[in-house]
Amino acid sequence: TSEQFMKKPTNEPILEYKKGSKEREALEKALEEFANKTTDVPLRIGTEKITRNLDKNQVMPFDHKKVLARYTYATADDIKHAIEVGLAARGKWERLPLKQRVEIFLKAADLCAGKYRMALNATTMLGQGKNIVQAEIDAACELIDFFRFNSYFALQLEKYEPISTESSKNSLVYRGLEGFVAAIAPFNFTAIGGNLSGAPAIIGNVVLWKPSDTAVLSNYIIYQILEEAGLPPGIISFLPADGPTFGNTVCSNSNLAAINFTGSVPTFEYIWRKVAENLGNYTTFPKLIGECGGKNFHFVHPSADLTSVVIGTLRSAYEYQGQKCSACSRLFIPESLWPKFLEEFSKLHKEIKVGSVQDGSIFMSAVIDDKAFARIKAYIDHAKSGADGAKVILGGTYDDSVGYFVQPTLIRVTDFKSKLLTEEIFGPVLSAYVYPDAEAETLVTKIKDATKFGLTGAVFSQDKVFLQKATDILRDATGNLYLNDKSTGSVVGQQPFGGARKSGTNDKAGGPHYLLRFASPLTIKETF
Ligand code: SER
Repeated sequence: TSEQFMKKPTNEPILEYKKGSKEREALEKALEEFANKTTDVPLRIGTEKITRNLDKNQVMPFDHKKVLARYTYATADDIKHAIEVGLAARGKWERLPLKQRVEIFLKAADLCAGKYRMALNATTMLGQGKNIVQAEIDAACELIDFFRFNSYFALQLEKYEPISTESSKNSLVYRGLEGFVAAIAPFNFTAIGGNLSGAPAIIGNVVLWKPSDTAVLSNYIIYQILEEAGLPPGIISFLPADGPTFGNTVCSNSNLAAINFTGSVPTFEYIWRKVAENLGNYTTFPKLIGECGGKNFHFVHPSADLTSVVIGTLRSAYEYQGQKCSACSRLFIPESLWPKFLEEFSKLHKEIKVGSVQDGSIFMSAVIDDKAFARIKAYIDHAKSGADGAKVILGGTYDDSVGYFVQPTLIRVTDFKSKLLTEEIFGPVLSAYVYPDAEAETLVTKIKDATKFGLTGAVFSQDKVFLQKATDILRDATGNLYLNDKSTGSVVGQQPFGGARKSGTNDKAGGPHYLLRFASPLTIKETF
């Protein structure tokens, strides 16, 4: 009922997959099923399923000879065709009462929570190299939360009734954007693919969804779920594609209304330039919504509780192999705490199990692909050469003979300007900078402008006055700031997520205002 729609949702509970449990059995069955076959993923445009030559492979990062899925790149003509099909479907979709669109997404959320939970998790584990916990919080819980909370937030938008007078009636209509939305998704969160495409669609937009090459299968399962939930043909097209072909084709189309992007800073900047080049051709000013990289930090004050620093830092730096955009890659720690930190951190570090996602006891698996492996390796080699006063303290080894494995690595860095402390590595590499206790506040001020990024950061301190001071100093330096907690793990509806500065346009996915970016409100005044 509509009253039910208006109730604030609760976050989807995280399943534990204990050995011998029903859900563990179901997951293992799904893993076996997907691991032992290669799934063909078509392009989807309107009612068409296009397989063509299936010459692209999505492999399993921890065993790169195994092909999880085969797919085809959309050509520029496919992309143009999808735009036409989308625009033809737009009018009817955009005019539907919001509740009818919401119903589809709530149904999709239920399908994700039930019937397809194991398929979403298994394909995310096998294709993107997540362990069970990391898959469950992403491909199940966060995705479900996005669908449910976006439904709620969309209905909230419509709640405000403009003031009418005796002589006039005023109303606000939340139209979808005129044109189409291009959603360009990353590999590192399956849920983000569902949100980048689903959020604009719920508001009444038509969407061209380009999944990441390394997350094609899990993203396609979301597409199929939306279809089963009742999404009409043509509203979302599913288009794996070469990045520049996709970007250039959508940016040079006069009907481009928005780009909803998650990925690297250079790619997002490329998109802005392409839009600028085509500015004279557009019907409306395209909205550019971007979630980019980070160089996230944990700042530890001498008063900090060491246990939470050790556990929080280890999790933030190494969970999902450091491939969350929010992952901690800089640790600032006072001299007084460093020896004890190192002792405790090393103990846990030794216990970290790295391996295949099919082994239920691993903490880490392989990094996503050969390019990531080469990039991360180069940073580790830089440290090994002793450049910038760097010293590898833990880990530092890598091996791509079977999968793209990089051991969790801790590097001590003494040069504040080292690239290890300023560039995004996007892998399980943590750089620690040890500072004299008396310089805590000075250092926070230095950190404030030390990189071009502004995504996440954490301050650990038992001194409330210091916490307040640090929060104030760092006011512009992050989008999500954590006090006495790790820098990763934002939850939809709890910590709306987005970065400042070069980390993105900070539109806060999982928050109440995100959807407004995909609306073109119409004000109507009727005079009697
Ligand atoms: N929301 C994720 C996190 O906080 C990153 O996208 O870790």
